[in-house]
Amino acid sequence: PSWIVWTPGVCPGFNVAIRAFCQAGDIVLIQTPNYPPILAAPEFNDCTPIHIATVEENDGWMLDFAELEAQAKDPKAKLFIMCNPMNPVGSVLSQAQLDRVAQICADNDVILCSDEIHCDLILDELTHLPAGNHAQLQHRSITLMAANKTFNIAGLGTSFAIIPDTTLRNTFNAAARGIVPWVNILGLVATQSAFTECDDWHAAQRNYLIGNRDYLAKAINAIEGLKALPAPATFLLWVDASQLDLGTAKNVQDWCESRGVGPSPGVDFGNEHFFRLNFGVSRDMLEEVVARLSA
Ligand SMILES: Cc1ncc(COP(=O)(O)O)c(C=O)c1O
Repeated sequence: PSWIVWTPGVCPGFNVAIRAFCQAGDIVLIQTPNYPPILAAPEFNDCTPIHIATVEENDGWMLDFAELEAQAKDPKAKLFIMCNPMNPVGSVLSQAQLDRVAQICADNDVILCSDEIHCDLILDELTHLPAGNHAQLQHRSITLMAANKTFNIAGLGTSFAIIPDTTLRNTFNAAARGIVPWVNILGLVATQSAFTECDDWHAAQRNYLIGNRDYLAKAINAIEGLKALPAPATFLLWVDASQLDLGTAKNVQDWCESRGVGPSPGVDFGNEHFFRLNFGVSRDMLEEVVARLSA
């Protein structure tokens, strides 16, 4: 329990991590595409973001390890923010992949800030591996988690950072002091209840999401010009529209909106040729989305 630092959201967590472990002008490595507030965070804190690509490998999305290795060598690179499972592509790091991240961080004295807010939404038969549990990352990681996503309680503003190393934890707390408010009691009780009393609900939700994911991925791949790899985790589908005939539409987002569908624009995540669909909705709504996009 002493490793846990409560934060009023995961977003404050990765912003505080940059303040704590970087000086102005330092480099923050970020896997892209990524959740827009993660992309924005380095510049909010006077640092330079360097983007590490996500590449298609064996029918899945994977971090470009060669690029991470090359960029981590820059002495100004102090922090790597990654997302596992990843928003928007839904990938989950295997043990070998996390080992590789850990080795690159250790070799280059880079601290890892791992946003694991989606870790209870693993849809395939995979095991989530928390960064803070990795022996090589014990003294160089901040793992961010919350019940927010899985149990839809983000409005209660209660998240936590797991920081095994005492010095890193003290530095993180010092950077948050006077700026980041303490979490509220309702959020703490809801988080405890979510993690200890809701297993049946959680299992039922996971089954529903698996059905939605499989239905949506198949339906999207049947639409000419659209392609998506089924997400092993999360409730998000990252749709490649680079081969789409846009007709009179100005861009991919305009094409979707002209059909009455408003996905998250890919440009916000770092790739204008994609869009992100959220399948954490009723099947009826998904069927309506598919019908509109197919029309
Ligand atoms: C990867 C990721 N991190 C953080 C958040 C937001 O977390 P919070 O509401 O706890 O700040 C989200 C929400 O979509 C997310 O997808």
